[in-house]
Amino acid sequence: MAVETPLTGVSAIDRDRLAKLTRVEREKLEQRTQRSREHWERAKKVMPAGVPSSFQSIEPWPVFVERGEGSKVWDVDGNEYSDFHNGFGVVCVGHGNPKVAAAVAEQARSGTHFAAPTEGAIVVAEELVRRFQLPQWRFTNSGTEATMDAVHLARAATGRDAILKIEGSYHGQHDAVMVSVYPELDELGDRDDPRGIPYGAGYPRALTDLTRAVPFNDADALESALTKMEGQVAALIMEPAMMNINIIPPADGYLARVRELTAANGVKLIFDEVKTGCTIAYGGATERFGVEADMVTLAKATFGGYPGGAVGMTEEIAALIADGEYHQYGTFNGNPLVMAASRTALTEVLTADAYEKLERTNQRLLSVSQEIIDRYNLPAYPEGMGAKGCVIFSSEPLRDYRDYLSKVDGELGTLAWLYHMNHGIFMTPGVEEEWTLSIAHSDDDITTYLNAFESFARDVTGS
Ligand SMILES: Cc1ncc(COP(=O)(O)O)c(C=O)c1O
Repeated sequence: MAVETPLTGVSAIDRDRLAKLTRVEREKLEQRTQRSREHWERAKKVMPAGVPSSFQSIEPWPVFVERGEGSKVWDVDGNEYSDFHNGFGVVCVGHGNPKVAAAVAEQARSGTHFAAPTEGAIVVAEELVRRFQLPQWRFTNSGTEATMDAVHLARAATGRDAILKIEGSYHGQHDAVMVSVYPELDELGDRDDPRGIPYGAGYPRALTDLTRAVPFNDADALESALTKMEGQVAALIMEPAMMNINIIPPADGYLARVRELTAANGVKLIFDEVKTGCTIAYGGATERFGVEADMVTLAKATFGGYPGGAVGMTEEIAALIADGEYHQYGTFNGNPLVMAASRTALTEVLTADAYEKLERTNQRLLSVSQEIIDRYNLPAYPEGMGAKGCVIFSSEPLRDYRDYLSKVDGELGTLAWLYHMNHGIFMTPGVEEEWTLSIAHSDDDITTYLNAFESFARDVTGS
């Protein structure tokens, strides 16, 4: 997702050179994307900011995409890119994947929607049970809806109203989680003083006051928050590895301690695996880090490029739905087209072998990025796992959002993005984002990325 990035990190880089290169590359991007500008001018007349979702707003204007195939996308100006954006990490199967396309086309011929259950939903739910070790699943249409249901279910299960989340995490666009998404450093307070800072207008204070945030990778701060809020907290919702402020992995033992603390305090643990699920391992973060939550939320890559979401839960929580205590509704939940895409993606494309390939390709990308960083002495390091990775423009590893705000060099990140876009890499906008590989990414795509990154490193260091 792309947001304003008020980052303060400063490194030993010639700022004048950096500013000049940024001007040059920005002009280059403007020149190459004039038809996108025209589309944007037209779109602004009918859509706020000229985009369907505010995450698609970028400077100087959004790049409108015409089509995609495999690892490539083409914009409306005819520029070809290797796609490292992948629809914010959705298209792990590759654009126009023939198996997924055939399954969806076949389903489309025999009906696109019934609002009655189909066998496809059973197969997808069975596959999710295998991957994520939770016995019961319900479907939604997005990650937002999945985390909304999970929060409601935690409240229903515990009879408590308060929610804990992690500072600097995004879980979708609903009242309970649009809190402490990108707060300023001076709003954060002490690490063990859980606060909630509403993110934008339109969310009633009476609701956002129920959500408080604690820092990532700090089990002591969580323990202290749970003690202060004893008996009030329904759930802790968290990404097991943070993926919306670049990538911050959990420190050794952190998730296990979070599991112990939440269980000991009667708090439901929700792993939001919208980004990590079906991308960083066959069984997502649950498998990769070996810690099981009470609920797991999924969307993005799990649905093979189609708009779906899911919430997995224990038998105890599932009983709340089955008994009619919690009303989990949705006209399009379990839609047959989405289920056909997901079923094929999960059982025929994103197989165990596919994860090995994604990991290998990503490791090459990460290790050669490290070589380039070393060669040019850049204040940066690569981070990644499975299909996901990024170069973080900080000379020290980040442990949490406070580190992200104070250590990341946002100007370097912005220039790197411009270099990628002007050198044939379609890259997620925003300093906080990461790449997502698909099974269609070839050695050539990786080389294109590394060449773009090396050009950036050479020019910005004046080598
Ligand atoms: C971790 C996480 N949770 C939830 C969401 C919301 O998902 P959606 O955009 O499908 O509503 C996102 C979206 O980026 C996300 O990154």
